[in-house]
Amino acid sequence: MGGIIVKDARRRERAGGPGNDYAEFLARYPAYESTAVVDELRAKDFSRLDRQGHVYLDYTGGGLYSESLVRDHAEFLVGHVLGNPHSTNPTSAIATERVESCRHRVLRFFNASPDEYVPVFTANATHALKLVGEGYPFCGGDVLLLCFDNHNSVNGLREYDRVRGAVTKYVPVMPPDMRILDCVLERYLDETPKICNRLFAYPAQSNFSGVQHPLEWIEKAHAKGWDVLLDAAAHVPTNRLDLGRWHPDYVAISFYKMFGYPTGVGALIARREALEKLRRPWFAGGTITVASVQADKYFLAQGAQGFEDGTLNYACLPAVERGLDFLDSIGIDLIHTRVMSLAGWLIEHMAALTHGNGRPVVRIYGPADTSMRGGTVAFNVYDASGATVDHLTVEKRANMMNISIRTGCFCNPGAGELALGLSKGEMIQCLDRSGSRMSVVEFRQCIDGKSTGAVRVSLGLVSNFEDVRTFLRFLGQFREA
Ligand SMILES: Cc1ncc(COP(=O)(O)O)c(C=O)c1O
Repeated sequence: MGGIIVKDARRRERAGGPGNDYAEFLARYPAYESTAVVDELRAKDFSRLDRQGHVYLDYTGGGLYSESLVRDHAEFLVGHVLGNPHSTNPTSAIATERVESCRHRVLRFFNASPDEYVPVFTANATHALKLVGEGYPFCGGDVLLLCFDNHNSVNGLREYDRVRGAVTKYVPVMPPDMRILDCVLERYLDETPKICNRLFAYPAQSNFSGVQHPLEWIEKAHAKGWDVLLDAAAHVPTNRLDLGRWHPDYVAISFYKMFGYPTGVGALIARREALEKLRRPWFAGGTITVASVQADKYFLAQGAQGFEDGTLNYACLPAVERGLDFLDSIGIDLIHTRVMSLAGWLIEHMAALTHGNGRPVVRIYGPADTSMRGGTVAFNVYDASGATVDHLTVEKRANMMNISIRTGCFCNPGAGELALGLSKGEMIQCLDRSGSRMSVVEFRQCIDGKSTGAVRVSLGLVSNFEDVRTFLRFLGQFREA
């Protein structure tokens, strides 16, 4: 049955569109054919997408869940009695066993040795990053090295650093391809004396431009005495992260970005040694072995438990195990192949789209080819005179076609500022004008005349050629003859 639906979908894809573009696509990206199992999966397990006519292009915002994952998990819940973990009663023991089993599964998925790494369960990637920010032993003279391409959930670490008298530095990315030059990074890594605590935090994949920053930087930074926090939230849904090969000190992820369900569960996967280095600013239920009111003392539990405040989302952790099984059953490399085939076609056709007068319809912020990038593409649309079409207008028109995209700066203001050419002077002048609050509307007024946001499409697990084709047709509507 699934096979028939898929063959129909493929036939439609082959037949559709001027110039039989699907055949051209396959000729250009033949590896896509090897990912046909995902078409079957989409028809069987994500049927709501096509039934409801959605063109979903916001996988970096959130992954989509397979229907069988949700059903299997519901069945598991209905079939088990789970109590609050960390007790010895029978229902608690079942929950505790599932939590620990999930911990092992996470390590296995990332090929991380349990002797080296421990996953701390968190609410999301942001919470994982916060555990590092609040616990890292920054003090006067210490350095936090960030890059312009960081998500705000990493940028926020600088506030912990600031109150403890440490210094934050930013490595710039270079438009138009939005990469960081190796030699520039080395300069920043070399600038700080080795006596300090030094933390370098960067994204494995940019949630703005899709750029993949080299994992080789981990070893490079280690060799110069830095600790490394790898924000892998946008990377791991469509790329292999092998923690047997790469050894960042801290890795932050959100599981809903990988397989859609459950939301509200993430992890800080930390090297055991690096976890020991973090100082917890408080204690809570679940994190201690012993605490006393009268003696005014507490003893923190060792390992992950010392960082897991209160009660874990124990009813949902079994779904994380299933989600990881699900990804493994497809193969992360196959997902990568598929996404990058589609991304390659998308980028080529976006870049080739011109107005009648030859001016480009689209300007992409990021690499113009598929090497060292993921399936996230940021851009703006221009009219035939070269003026930006406001990103909110693009979004509104996409919404009308049931196409889900993102616009704005995607919580990545550094990449946004550099991509859009907003200078430090302009930003300071604009942000200094306001009191303690500033709305997005006030910000837009302040940066008057310049674009304050971009448009982002991101491909993922069950993206198909039809999604890309529909989006390219949508972009074609902005073309002026
Ligand atoms: C690169 C990156 N880091 C961190 C985050 C924060 O993830 P969450 O909102 O799940 O905590 C995101 C979310 O989009 C992201 O793309």
